[in-house]
Amino acid sequence: MGPGDPVLGNGKLVRRSRGRPGRPRLSGGGGGRFSPATQPTAPPCTDFDLAYFKAYSHLGVHEEMLKDRVRTESYRNAIRQHQDFIAGKVVLDVGCGTGVLSIFCALAGARRVYAVEASDIAVQAADIVNENNLSDKIIVLHGRVEDVDIDEQVDVIISEWMGYILLYESMLASVIFARDKWLKPGGLILPSHATLYMAPITNPERYHDSIDFWQDVYGIKMSSMKSLAKQCAFIEPSVETITGESVLTWPCVVMQVDCYTIRVEELQSITANFEFSSMLQAPLHGFGFWFDVEFNGPMGIEANSDATVVLSTAPEDSPTHWQQTILYLFDPIELKKDQIIEGSVTLSQSIENARFLNIHIQYCCGGRSFVKQSTMR
Ligand SMILES: C[S@@+](CC[C@H](N)C(=O)[O-])C[C@H]1O[C@@H](n2cnc3c(N)ncnc32)[C@H](O)[C@@H]1O
Repeated sequence: MGPGDPVLGNGKLVRRSRGRPGRPRLSGGGGGRFSPATQPTAPPCTDFDLAYFKAYSHLGVHEEMLKDRVRTESYRNAIRQHQDFIAGKVVLDVGCGTGVLSIFCALAGARRVYAVEASDIAVQAADIVNENNLSDKIIVLHGRVEDVDIDEQVDVIISEWMGYILLYESMLASVIFARDKWLKPGGLILPSHATLYMAPITNPERYHDSIDFWQDVYGIKMSSMKSLAKQCAFIEPSVETITGESVLTWPCVVMQVDCYTIRVEELQSITANFEFSSMLQAPLHGFGFWFDVEFNGPMGIEANSDATVVLSTAPEDSPTHWQQTILYLFDPIELKKDQIIEGSVTLSQSIENARFLNIHIQYCCGGRSFVKQSTMR
């Protein structure tokens, strides 16, 4: 993460910058979208939300996202793939930032684009739209999508809402709000589906760097520092890049999101059971998380090509600014080949701040039971 990354209320870094062959993929084409009986009610804008939007008013984070070519080109490819549907239609860009996705949609022939942005980067987005002579097509609305007025229904919703470990930042709720308020039946949501994966990982270098370092410092024994070092290094989830070689097993699917149908209540707490079988004899240092998103149309919308665009943040794919999120164990566990690690993981919104994410892992390995509880702040 770079110095320009936004921060949440407590000054911690919020955001971001990355499958094994054959890992599970969602099937193409969503079903009918969820139709609420009533219009959604805007949740109150909290001090945490204000701090979150303030963080996004800084140039650095937008620069980092735009420089992430895997991310930005995946969106552009998806827009091009769905160009036949987008041409002549009305688009809503939830959280437009600099307006890049709105401009891609306008260039793909959208008739009108509502570019909604709550942070002050909206001012620059409007300048960028002007600079590209697109102010007749793109209307920049500076405000929360939950609060702005849009007097028509839209055909397409586009948004880059994914945080670390997919759900961190809780921005998906705003996309769901927009979907339930403005999306026409049969409309397109980009991205349409997301999958969060988890797998046990080994990372001896990281462990050595942070913990074994204290064994011998310039010939001085400092091993009494190890326990504090473990606290400091491993208490919180770590956003870092690992490679496919660090991954000890096939990943499990923690959750699948269908943006056409998911409801906000389903995001409050997610539990998945796992049973991993180690492919190697190696020290288990922690559990890694990553995600991918797909850009499918709802049933009946033909894309320009058969191949679904997939934006992957997996260790073996090209790095992105999201990297991977690792939950390290305090003490490594020596795994034998084919050893089973079984248990469950629960992701839940923090009561302290709904944009924070609690991660609770309980697991059994070699006849012993463990619990790892962490909050991504
Ligand atoms: C990850 S950035 C993506 C920016 C831009 N779409 C891009 O792809 O470069 C998400 C943006 O959404 C904005 N945002 C988040 N929640 C929002 C909400 N409820 N209403 C309006 N904007 C929101 C943030 O301020 C941030 O600028």
